[in-house]
Amino acid sequence: MTTLTKTEGEKAPTGPDSFLSVRDLRVRFSTEDGIVKAVDGLSFDVERGKTLGIVGESGSGKSVTNLTVLGLHNPKSTTVEGEILLEGRDLVTAPEKELEKLRGNKVAMIFQDPLTALSPYYTVGRQIAEPYMKHTGASKKEARARAIEMLTKVGIPQPQSRVDDYPHQFSGGMRQRAMIAMALVCDPDLLIADEPTTALDVTVQAQILDLLKELQQEFGTGIIFITHDLGVISDMADDLLVMYSGRAVERGTVREVLRQPKHPYTWGLLSSMPRLGADVSQALNPIPGSPPSLLNPPSGCPFHPRCAFTGEVPGDRCSTERPPLGEGRDAACHLTAEQKQSIFIDTIQPRLR
Ligand SMILES: Nc1ncnc2c1ncn2[C@@H]1O[C@H](COP(=O)(O)OP(=O)(O)OP(=O)(O)O)[C@@H](O)[C@H]1O
Ligand SMILES: [Mg+2]
Repeated sequence: MTTLTKTEGEKAPTGPDSFLSVRDLRVRFSTEDGIVKAVDGLSFDVERGKTLGIVGESGSGKSVTNLTVLGLHNPKSTTVEGEILLEGRDLVTAPEKELEKLRGNKVAMIFQDPLTALSPYYTVGRQIAEPYMKHTGASKKEARARAIEMLTKVGIPQPQSRVDDYPHQFSGGMRQRAMIAMALVCDPDLLIADEPTTALDVTVQAQILDLLKELQQEFGTGIIFITHDLGVISDMADDLLVMYSGRAVERGTVREVLRQPKHPYTWGLLSSMPRLGADVSQALNPIPGSPPSLLNPPSGCPFHPRCAFTGEVPGDRCSTERPPLGEGRDAACHLTAEQKQSIFIDTIQPRLR
């Protein structure tokens, strides 16, 4: 196992409002090929009633991070280190029974595919009512009324009768709404949304996003929102975390990160995104090279083998020294603040127009 000194991990501010506080999280899987370091020293905070966006290429550890927060990993093949503090209580060391109590109650998750969350064999109403009964001790009658109330909230037409439908009788967009109803039935303090609208058409997507925002206002829910879509992120998130190779490489408010990104990986990510209203035939600029191996991650900065700016950093620091991510607004990169700013303005920004 690699030993990392404390300074190599990342720090983030722990505000008084920080409801979820993840510190130096490391998640490793034992596989036949070796140890997969899916999350490698990650720290972040989620405040009550705020949305943290997480972006990053496929395989950067977004889903693993959030499944670990929910305790949904196989303890036999997975090693979890670090802290996941939910209102100060460490979930990494909490017994499974306690995690079970939290799931669906204080913390809930919605996925890209509602069929992974909804069982085909039970009515939608029953699937919304059951966690409510389990966590609040409500009667069957009360829980059914609550399920109808939730279906109404998420905009299902004729909720009184649709409550008895099975998931396959719902359209894709309605299933997504039903899953949101199920996730929010116990007023969770934290909602993890992992690409919740990727499978939906643009109109339905916009409706679901509006719905999430409304429900957040009503319930004061903290949200972790994972997506590949930077347009959606700029609409939904307050803060943004950019992940690469199981680490946070940049963080700040969504405005700061999208308007004045400081990390070469974030520059690549922004350059590879289609512009709103851009000519579809316009070639995108994918980030050259391929995502790093998690079995044998690069030394130093994990992005250095793909970075076009390592020549600007004296010596071989990029390949030998892991750049730290400071508190608050920062990017984990050895370029100086002046270099980050001038490269962005001279080279990157013109490409984003
Ligand atoms: N149970 C497991 N055993 C071994 N490796 C795993 C396991 N679960 C995930 N991984 C690996 O961990 C890495 C991170 O996966 P993760 O699903 O978090 O990526 P992601 O950022 O969510 O990607 P995507 O955008 O495609 O959803 C991947 O390389 C994945 O193959
Ligand atoms: Mg994922």
